Amino acid sequence: VSPQQQRLRGDVIPGLPQRGFALARVVFGDRAKRQTDGRVVVQGVAAFGQGPQHGPRQGHPLLGRVRPEAHRQLRQHLRPAQCPAFVPTMGNLHSGHLALVQNARRLGDVTVASIFVNRLQFGPNEDFDTYPRTLAADCDQLKAAGCDLVFAPSEKELYPEPQGFTVQPPTELANILEGHFRPGFFSGVSTVVLKLFHCVFGSGPGTAVFGQKDYQQLMVIRRMVSQFAMPIQIVAGPTQRAPDGLALSSRNGYLSETERAE
Ligand code: PAF
Repeated sequence: VSPQQQRLRGDVIPGLPQRGFALARVVFGDRAKRQTDGRVVVQGVAAFGQGPQHGPRQGHPLLGRVRPEAHRQLRQHLRPAQCPAFVPTMGNLHSGHLALVQNARRLGDVTVASIFVNRLQFGPNEDFDTYPRTLAADCDQLKAAGCDLVFAPSEKELYPEPQGFTVQPPTELANILEGHFRPGFFSGVSTVVLKLFHCVFGSGPGTAVFGQKDYQQLMVIRRMVSQFAMPIQIVAGPTQRAPDGLALSSRNGYLSETERAE
């Protein structure tokens, strides 16, 4: 641990303003539980070293609480990586998500997962407030799955002001099927994915893995990336199923046995 790392460990990055919003919070591996205190998230290089790749797996300076310079710092942290592989999630992870992480590990030189419950994609009568938030357990699972970096911004950090600019996906893609029943859903998804891509990839190349289970979402994101000419490859991860055949999904936890059987 270098003196600089030591200084950053467990506290606010020196020199960063104490006021204003933080864009992002960065969480690593086995000390990630600390992030539940809402303040400081720091992890040492010990969580990495899982592969010969460059970048965070070789050990990288620690990040502490990330303030307005967060985006720059995240980009800096990922700079040694030539092709990050990214799995965006809303947390409450199950083995379907972890399979996406396993996929991602084969596709990039550093594996990043995000955990962010995105208000923009919830309708007024949907379960935003009650959506399960299990950040500490999620981080443990991600670490065990070999994820190198967890990016878990707070709502204030990702949406420091009301998100006036949004992505409007083409209606023929976004207003049918699930989008028909959930007006604005794919706009909310596209908007947050665009922001997360910006945080993780900057303007550089990379790969993002999305579950095939959410097929319409996959199509919307593919079209967005293509139309905005983003140098990001979108890879579909195969659907993981429970023994009874139902696709693994956080919300399937809401179903009763009868509903599952139906
Ligand atoms: O599929 C999900 O979990 C979400 O829609 C995503 C892609 C993380 C955006 O919030």
